[in-house]
Amino acid sequence: MSKGLVRSGPDLFSFKIELDLAEKPLMTQNKFKKNILCIGAGYVGGPTMTIIANKCPDYKVTVVDISEERIAAWNSDQLPIFEPGLKERVLKVRGKNLFFSTDIDEAIDQADIIFVSVNTPTKNFGEGAGKAVDLQYIEQTARRIKENSRSNKIVVEKSTLPVRAAETLETILHSGANGVHFEILSNPEFMAEGSGVRDMEFPDRVLIGSKDTPSGLAARKELVDVYLNWVPEENLITTNLWSSELSKLVSNAFLAQRISSINSIAAICEVTEADVTEVSKAVGRDSRIGAKFLNAGPGFGGSCFRKDILNLVYLCEYYQLNEIASFWEQVVTLNDYQMERYVKRILQVMFNTLVGKKLAVFGFAFKPDTGDTRDAPAIYICKRLLEEKACLRITDPHALKNAQKDLEGIDSEVEYIEDPYKAAEGVHGIALITEWAEYSKLDYQKIFDKMEKPAFVFDGRNHLDHKALFEIGFNVYSVGKAPLTHF
Ligand code: UDX
Ligand code: ADP
Repeated sequence: MSKGLVRSGPDLFSFKIELDLAEKPLMTQNKFKKNILCIGAGYVGGPTMTIIANKCPDYKVTVVDISEERIAAWNSDQLPIFEPGLKERVLKVRGKNLFFSTDIDEAIDQADIIFVSVNTPTKNFGEGAGKAVDLQYIEQTARRIKENSRSNKIVVEKSTLPVRAAETLETILHSGANGVHFEILSNPEFMAEGSGVRDMEFPDRVLIGSKDTPSGLAARKELVDVYLNWVPEENLITTNLWSSELSKLVSNAFLAQRISSINSIAAICEVTEADVTEVSKAVGRDSRIGAKFLNAGPGFGGSCFRKDILNLVYLCEYYQLNEIASFWEQVVTLNDYQMERYVKRILQVMFNTLVGKKLAVFGFAFKPDTGDTRDAPAIYICKRLLEEKACLRITDPHALKNAQKDLEGIDSEVEYIEDPYKAAEGVHGIALITEWAEYSKLDYQKIFDKMEKPAFVFDGRNHLDHKALFEIGFNVYSVGKAPLTHF
């Protein structure tokens, strides 16, 4: 059973913290109103704290991590992650009210509000393997906070956690008596990579879950005050802790479910004369359904969707809601099917053998405008193409380093090439997996001229001008549309 599902006793500390927060000045450095700390300087922690530091000059914001390499990168000109608009914002406040450090213990001691933003991958061992969240990093963090705290703290769950994980955090933090009170809040992150800066500067909503006790409400107000520096009050949603934790999983499950739904329709379109782009446009114009997240593709990726759905499935199974568990699990099953379908189509179209054939892979990141490749469909697709003994030339504007790590040990037939023109030279086909804007602006006549014939394009994102490609001479296979072929 996941530790996040353990129930704990009533809140005995609620009245005390309210008094503490009101009467005892929290530990701050003179110059700043409050000290905010974020533990975990990853894709969530780094950008989130950068925005808070930009918007709240009165708060000192420190981001710590166990990885010296990551912190060194945040302190350098080469930030560890690529996110449009992020670097300018880091440079604006770094060294003023935004600090990156490996001195975790000191930073905990100084902090008033601690965001926990460490990684929460899916467990790959033991009980719940493949579904439950691996809480080891959260637990290590909780213990470290407890050991280094000499004043009351608000601890904010920022990482996606199983429902009721706040109780686990609270139990660890309050175990053993050192007189310090911790109030736990849930404040899930809804930013999407690639548009993270905009998502955080103009959020649809900010969700804050707290206990409905005097101390819970006091802590909630502290966090609301941070966000009120730039978020309109009507966009702040407050709920109880469990609703907040569950809402994060449900938001991602609903988004992923839309993608699996449209991908399932793409399969029907490919065997009929329907066009998935037209279908999704027609369906999405119903205001009750809406147009977003209805783009068919090679399958969804990223660090959240699969993990969060499997986490939801695990929760349902734990409560013996088996029908509900299998409903949500099907979203992931369909995603796996979609990636495999993309590979099978390439194989079938290229005369049922890829042995020794060269394929240019356009895009490896799980989506454009990020270098992140976590759970990217490209990983699965490339592995399968390599199993079929294809030779791959992978190109991507920001993800080649990660691609190299992802395919380490199986990449003797892989070349990583920055220039897409060079990547496509002499290949039999192009597999477009990530819809980077630049790929739609390439000179495909020039590319065609240097490819083996017949030349194929497998547009996994319906990103290119298929008619123009066909007229150049390509055989074009896209997702959820009839192919355009010369034979
Ligand atoms: C997601 C959620 O959107 C965000 O709110 C949450 O905080 C974290 O998880 P992210 O994983 O960064 O964000 O990217 P997102 O834009 O949701 O895309 C996820 C995957 O779905 C990508 O692989 C993308 O290519 C794919 N996708 C998205 C589709 O295949 N079709 C679509 O219509 C939309
Ligand atoms: P996310 O996408 O959720 O931000 P990342 O993997 O990008 O996930 O970032 C999580 C960060 O948390 C990593 O940089 C990792 O080194 C850091 N981390 C993990 N455990 C701890 C810990 N106990 N203390 C401090 N940092 C930690």
